[in-house]
Amino acid sequence: VPTSNIRNFSIIAHIDHGKSTLADKLLQLTGTVESREMKDQFLDNMDLERERGITIKLQAARMRFTYENEPHCLNLIDTPGHVDFSYEVSRSLAACEGALLVVDASQGVEAQTLANVYLALENNLEVIPVLNKIDLPGAEPNRVSQEIEEVIGLDCSNAIYCSAKEGIGITEILNAIVQRIPPPHDTNGRPLRALIFDSYYDAYRGVIVYFRVVDGTIKKGDRIIFMASGKDYFADEIGVLSPSQMQVEELRAGEVGYLSASIKSVADARVGDTITHYTRRAEQSLPGYKEATPMVFCGLFPVDADQFPELRDALEKLQLNDAALKFEPETSSAMGFGFRCGFLGLLHMEIVQERLEREYNLTLITTAPSVVYRVNTINGDTVECSNPSLLPEPGKRSSIEEPYVKIELLTPKDYIGPLMELAQDRRGEFKEMKYLTESRASIIYELPLAEMVGDFFDQLKSRSKGYASMEYSFIGYRESELIKLDILINGDCVEPLATIVHKDKAYAVGRALTQKLKELIPRQMFKVPIQACVGSKVIASESLSAIRKDVLAKCYGGDITRKKKLLRKQAEGKRRMKAIGKVDVPQEAFMAVLKLE
Ligand code: GTP
Repeated sequence: VPTSNIRNFSIIAHIDHGKSTLADKLLQLTGTVESREMKDQFLDNMDLERERGITIKLQAARMRFTYENEPHCLNLIDTPGHVDFSYEVSRSLAACEGALLVVDASQGVEAQTLANVYLALENNLEVIPVLNKIDLPGAEPNRVSQEIEEVIGLDCSNAIYCSAKEGIGITEILNAIVQRIPPPHDTNGRPLRALIFDSYYDAYRGVIVYFRVVDGTIKKGDRIIFMASGKDYFADEIGVLSPSQMQVEELRAGEVGYLSASIKSVADARVGDTITHYTRRAEQSLPGYKEATPMVFCGLFPVDADQFPELRDALEKLQLNDAALKFEPETSSAMGFGFRCGFLGLLHMEIVQERLEREYNLTLITTAPSVVYRVNTINGDTVECSNPSLLPEPGKRSSIEEPYVKIELLTPKDYIGPLMELAQDRRGEFKEMKYLTESRASIIYELPLAEMVGDFFDQLKSRSKGYASMEYSFIGYRESELIKLDILINGDCVEPLATIVHKDKAYAVGRALTQKLKELIPRQMFKVPIQACVGSKVIASESLSAIRKDVLAKCYGGDITRKKKLLRKQAEGKRRMKAIGKVDVPQEAFMAVLKLE
């Protein structure tokens, strides 16, 4: 099709507002996939994604659509729906001329949606408001349209009302995409520039790169170079996504497709990088390339020390597919050999941990996540520290800085009080509050990332009965009065349990943590003291009384299968324990600091 008949768009929606359901319906109605070959929700195709019902990685699909007797080619570029992946969202939006803003007509606009709409508007995208779920009895599309107008300032007079589930309004959406979203510019004559919006590692073909041609054309066999990484390759295969990969000879300005070139690691062809020709190079790369910077770190240790080499292999393999994952070896006297790993955020961390266990069959202990502190030493250096146990001694440092984030909470007005209390309690600095509508407010705070890393999001949800949403962005480092809190179990300092806390919170955290550990650590054959210390000063202590544990005592009679079952259960429970000194410490204990009341 000519460039003027191409439309590139993405869908912006809050989690659960129906993005995947709508995407499926668009694919079905355009005959892109037969409904019988459709696995539930085509675009989310990682198992883990489907299970958790969230979109993590981007995908794309090309649809054929006839509008006024002319064939059109509509490229849907999917965006991940979680704050951890906001950079990927920004790149996929940069590859489009328009976006559907899907809002659940029984709910309203959410923080994450807002942030992404602003991103789209900054990128000059044409945004088409779509009110979904109008089949629900509680749907109020008029009210929600009005909210969108008031909050975003987006004209909703021609918003589309639809039900992705019932298939209502889908043709209207396809028509609107053609009518309202502008076609790409025809810049086929210029030197090649293509934007990478996603890539993944395939065991047989190497990295598969998803891109949008912005200028010029790319042909099969072309010698190409990635401008940020400086790596060059021959494009062995290029193609389109319909939505499965289909080879083509050439892709022109405005088109969306994939290429493979025996690339060994996604780090060579990162999201945001620009592809150009090796000989006829573009002068300037496309704007917006950013290295992924991990914000959250934790230790990963195999329960069974023999699994260390397997863990290293698994991390190396995952990294081929995940340019944001960082790791380096870490040894601790308590935990043995493992790795210190860096992640974009907590969800990213959980995903990696789960994949390591599921796909590589490892049993791991994860230590509590930490942010990266900047420590200014007395001789004028600044060192970065992402491992609380390695914080330089008080005598060696002059100050500590910690990362701060700006958070925006959107909430129905009834929960403003409890949410402000939460933010205040997490050392939040109140910035602004405004009413978006009569019943919904936006509250802005600045607070330390470390205070958000734990259960902040869970708290937000539980204090607002699930109605509040949030969005955050990193705003820089600030000096804070921080100290290290050590935990001693049975007299031994357990490094992975050390945390960095604000000095005013040390006593409270120390007390709560020792109590929590007392609950979580199983009683041993001997008495075990649990202490929290600042320097050499004990600020809280508890003790576990001794017990002789005999699981079979519960078992009356001589039923052997029942006995076996109990023993097996006990053995499974042990799998996630780490022997520290003479004490077995379970996984939950390492995360206890995140779950303090
Ligand atoms: P993420 O993938 O997590 O971003 O969610 P999503 O926005 O893709 O939402 P999804 O399509 O998975 O839909 C969420 C839930 O809403 C599912 O249970 C859908 O069946 C339901 N749903 C989607 N569209 C409609 C609709 O038009 N009407 C009704 N009643 N339910 C819908």
